[in-house]
Amino acid sequence: MSNVVVVGAQWGDEGKGRIVDWLAEKADIVVRYNGGHNAGHTLVVDGQTYKLALLPSGVVRGKPGLIGNGVALDPEALLAEIGRMAAMGIRVTPEVLQIAETATLVLPVHRAIDAAQERMRAKPIGTTLRGIGPAYEDKVGRRGLRVCDLAEPALLAQKLEALLAHHAAWFRGLGLEPFPLEPMLSDLIAMAPKILPFVGRVWEQLDHAHSSGKRVVFEGSQAVMLDVDWGSYPYVTSSSTIAAGAASGTGIAPSRVGRVLGVSKVYATRVGEGPFTSEVTGAPGDVLRQRGGEYGVNTGRPRRCGWLDTVQLRQSSKVAGIDLLALTKLDVLDGFESVYLCVGYLLDGVRIDYMPATSAEQQRLEPVLQRFDGWDGSTRGTRAYGDLPKQAVALIEAIQREVGVPVAMVTTGPERDDAIVLQSPFA
Ligand code: IMP
Repeated sequence: MSNVVVVGAQWGDEGKGRIVDWLAEKADIVVRYNGGHNAGHTLVVDGQTYKLALLPSGVVRGKPGLIGNGVALDPEALLAEIGRMAAMGIRVTPEVLQIAETATLVLPVHRAIDAAQERMRAKPIGTTLRGIGPAYEDKVGRRGLRVCDLAEPALLAQKLEALLAHHAAWFRGLGLEPFPLEPMLSDLIAMAPKILPFVGRVWEQLDHAHSSGKRVVFEGSQAVMLDVDWGSYPYVTSSSTIAAGAASGTGIAPSRVGRVLGVSKVYATRVGEGPFTSEVTGAPGDVLRQRGGEYGVNTGRPRRCGWLDTVQLRQSSKVAGIDLLALTKLDVLDGFESVYLCVGYLLDGVRIDYMPATSAEQQRLEPVLQRFDGWDGSTRGTRAYGDLPKQAVALIEAIQREVGVPVAMVTTGPERDDAIVLQSPFA
């Protein structure tokens, strides 16, 4: 078995897109299994930057891509992204992209609900306002629309009317106008012929891929700390971001997903609200933001920055089933006199080595920081472990020790080959 699942091991934005791009060279298919266009995956290919939200990262190099049933798909966003890719010379056709019939549709009404929910929350989550959460709510509420519904316009109208009737009560309760059927219905009917050629049985394609010995990369979006079950609830997204989500979100058997590669920066960032124990406000945090270009790919929001939290990473690795780590953005730490790892927490003055379940307790945690010497000079573009400064090696080894998971890769720049590979993630 030689499949790999790529999972964000922190709060997202770890650089999963470029890791998937690197793996895609050796794989046959790349599959998205969760999230939607709330994701922002950046790839730099020959100096050209590609920002993907819904498309599997392999499409940039013409690798066949699949979008699984676990994805929340906004048809408007998908067509816009395909258009942006075309303008950059990348043709996304049904030959290279197939979408699961049962993927949930994200509709304009979901964006309106997302915005209204955020406005009424005493403590906003800081969602991407893309409508992702409300679309998943409708899915589990058993009233959602799915990609296959686009094929039957008459039924589509009925289902949409029922959905809007459900939400009308909520909108009225807030003193808002219920969301109108038009132009949403006509727009969907107009988009359907453009989307339907991409629609297929993703589960079956994955089964064939397995029988014919093909290598599949499952591309996770967001991250363990944003997982609806394992993240810092309620400051999370609404999907299963972990390796288990790769099975339920595509139709492949859990025993076939392969090795799990967790991606983590050598420091930490978070976008949106919620607890972030190792956050550094002020000087070193600002330097990390500026050097690391820590602004949202799709929303442009500045990311909160801090030191790597090995307690979080250890716990996340256990629940997400992470077998190997890819550490990204080592070069961002170049020139720091001191670098820190969070190696424990104080909860009301008592040292603990796990992340407590409640948000209130998570907010009260204080980090136990361990200092490491920084290094002079640049690690940018380094491709051999032996060429790293000894202080960088000491930091990587400390991360590996604290987390208890082997480091398979370290990236040192944005290009695909700016990486040190210690172990192939493919079995
Ligand atoms: P939603 O997914 O738009 O509902 O947002 C829920 C939370 O997940 C917010 O804190 C977002 O900032 C965060 N989030 C969603 N997608 C991403 C991502 O791709 N990277 C980082 N954070 C994300």
